[in-house]
Amino acid sequence: MKIYLAEHRGFCYGVNRAIDIALNARNEKLPVHTLGPIIHNPQMVSRLKEQGIDVAEKLTDISTGKVIIRSHGVGPDVYKQAEDKNLDVVDATCPHVKKAQQAAYNLLQAGYQVVIIGEENHPEVKSIFAWSNSNAHVIETSEDAKALPDYPRLGVVAQTTFAADKFLTIVKILETKCDELKIERTICTATDLRQQAAIDLAKKVNVMIVVGGRNSANTARLANVCRDTGCTTYHIESAAELRPEWFSNVQAAGITAGASTPDWVIEEVYSKMEEMSLGNVVKLETGSVIKG
Ligand code: F3S
Repeated sequence: MKIYLAEHRGFCYGVNRAIDIALNARNEKLPVHTLGPIIHNPQMVSRLKEQGIDVAEKLTDISTGKVIIRSHGVGPDVYKQAEDKNLDVVDATCPHVKKAQQAAYNLLQAGYQVVIIGEENHPEVKSIFAWSNSNAHVIETSEDAKALPDYPRLGVVAQTTFAADKFLTIVKILETKCDELKIERTICTATDLRQQAAIDLAKKVNVMIVVGGRNSANTARLANVCRDTGCTTYHIESAAELRPEWFSNVQAAGITAGASTPDWVIEEVYSKMEEMSLGNVVKLETGSVIKG
């Protein structure tokens, strides 16, 4: 059996960067906290804890030391509160999210009614909303867009991980709701790249293994796009869930992983699949190049 790894998989640039920033912020003398879990992956959170980086759910839970702002970002009120408490702020907000926050702020200052296209309860959307002076409409569906009142000027910002096709459909509706529509393109390509790489690989192999938390929406989406190609697809959280019978009579298997899956979890899955294939393995680093 040949095992292929999807060309784009696992942590995105912003999450990798945030973890590096957190590790560099370690300090033997001062307490270091992330404000909320750095990613929704318990193994990563406990690894950081072993390195002396704890999670605080709220700023009020921190009295001194460093506070790390995770990749989703926060509103201006949180920076102000941290400053008032004399905390040392280490900002790991993804630059793409920063751009969306800044866009919401600028649109507001320029007199637009801000519309954020995204999931209302997602931490990133909450942070963008805060930068709109908590004065934006957050919409997620075409129905939400149709329900908006008319405005002279609408300014649109998207959650960085929002699906590009859905975004365009909603924008078309917003065009009918105003005299002037200004669109800030804030969708990040990381999600699309992962989905496209998963589709490309699923078309080449007999079985796809998608690694990531069951509650991870982007991992579930990856599994769905693989299934849509007709490839047999299993969504697992860890190597322990792999079953040898999945690979009987399989010539080629592919692995991909959601944006919150650390590399070492992917490596464990790869190693276990290697064992299950009784040594008949060609390891390939990316799915785009088949060398075996
Ligand atoms: Fe990741 Fe930043 Fe994009 S956190 S998904 S690179 S917006």
